[in-house]
Amino acid sequence: MAEPTKTAKLTIGEQAFDLPIHSPTAGPDVIDIRKLYGQAGVFTYDPGFTSTASCDSTITFIDGEKGELLHRGYPIDQLASKSHYLEVCFLLLYGYLPKAEELETFEGTITRHTMIHEQMVNFFRGFRRDAHPMAIMVGVVGAMAAFYHDSTDISDPRQREIASHRLIAKMPTIAAWAYKYSIGQPFVYPRNDLDYAANFLHMCFSVPAEEYVVDPILSRAMDRIFTLHADHEQNASTSTVRLASSSGANPFACIAAGIACLWGPAHGGANQACLEMLKQIGSPENIPEYIARAKDKNDPFRLMGFGHRVYKNFDPRAKVMKQSADEVLDLMGIENNPILATAKALEEAALKDEYFTEKKLFPNVDFYSGIILEAMGFPTSMFTPIFALSRTVGWVSQWKEMLNDPQNKIGRPRQLYLGETARDYVDIENR
Ligand code: CMC
Repeated sequence: MAEPTKTAKLTIGEQAFDLPIHSPTAGPDVIDIRKLYGQAGVFTYDPGFTSTASCDSTITFIDGEKGELLHRGYPIDQLASKSHYLEVCFLLLYGYLPKAEELETFEGTITRHTMIHEQMVNFFRGFRRDAHPMAIMVGVVGAMAAFYHDSTDISDPRQREIASHRLIAKMPTIAAWAYKYSIGQPFVYPRNDLDYAANFLHMCFSVPAEEYVVDPILSRAMDRIFTLHADHEQNASTSTVRLASSSGANPFACIAAGIACLWGPAHGGANQACLEMLKQIGSPENIPEYIARAKDKNDPFRLMGFGHRVYKNFDPRAKVMKQSADEVLDLMGIENNPILATAKALEEAALKDEYFTEKKLFPNVDFYSGIILEAMGFPTSMFTPIFALSRTVGWVSQWKEMLNDPQNKIGRPRQLYLGETARDYVDIENR
């Protein structure tokens, strides 16, 4: 990081403190408060980290006002239309677009790691059949640390590299097997002659009894869903991975922590929640009732798939996802789908409503991804596992960046304590 050239002045009572200001390559300036407690004896207060940068990073940049998302400087719409998921993985991990031979080597490496340890089959079988696939993913990914001891030493760069490749390569197999287990079908082993997205579709939808040919339009749409979810700077799950890693935990434990965080309906779980909400709304004539509920302060209901902490004009991923949704629905011959009709009418109604426009609540990526995944034949419970497999590369890239950062310290936020001050214990008979 370059030496700061500007300072901010903080005055507390009679005393003034100079705080260095860092200028990023893009985005607002950042006031460095690392020495504040030592100098002034005060903490800052920022629940939800709405004004706090937790690290420096060179991977992904979001401008929420402009609706811009850049990976290593490249706009997401260009990557979604011109590149493909494994190339974007390389870009996120190594910082540049690979030459043809570098990409070939990388794709070969990922492809050769797609199988999972055979003993892990027993691990899957230990779950109830009705387990949510995200519960299986949290468990199985955490358990990878028990199967791949030779890539858990985080002080060894080679082991870190192997762990990264293993996680990216095996995640589709783990997600597909979680699905197969839940529907009582045999596990389908990866096929290394297929590309990353086609292989995932094959592991999810083929059965030993008959041949399954992956439609290239569907595998392209799948690949685009992976690409659009690949990374999103310091969101809740990525920050969870970084915080878990700050203690020196092994990579599989850290990524399992990220998966657990992603599961929540305010984050990756929103795609499942959004489709379930559209089904609950049922048809366009019921929309006013749900819009009224979303606006009612006394009703916890929110329009799922709307709003974002950072994007305040539009979500650039949602734009591309909407196009993909049209292509897939066209291919599947789905025209009069009630869910789609409800989605379109809801989007229109919300975008005309002052409550949503004033609060800058626009459809996010999860509003459209669920529609595509449903059309492809995935049950809603698989939506968040697909987000998790796509985001693995982002988590891994941020994890690697953090371990290479000399400023890396254990994450340990402070608090604003509002509880009782010290008081004496009262014996039970005197309470
Ligand atoms: N429906 C109705 N009202 C909403 C919604 C919504 N979806 N989202 C925010 N609001 C209101 C909220 O009630 C608050 O109103 P007020 O200022 O009157 O109290 C205001 O808008 C600001 O909301 P917030 O919760 O303070 O904003 P946030 O930045 O903390 O939350 C969010 C962002 C994404 C969690 C939130 O918009 C939300 O819950 N959306 C629905 C869930 C969703 O679609 N999540 C997926 C996000 S994109 C995928 C990902 O990156 O994980």
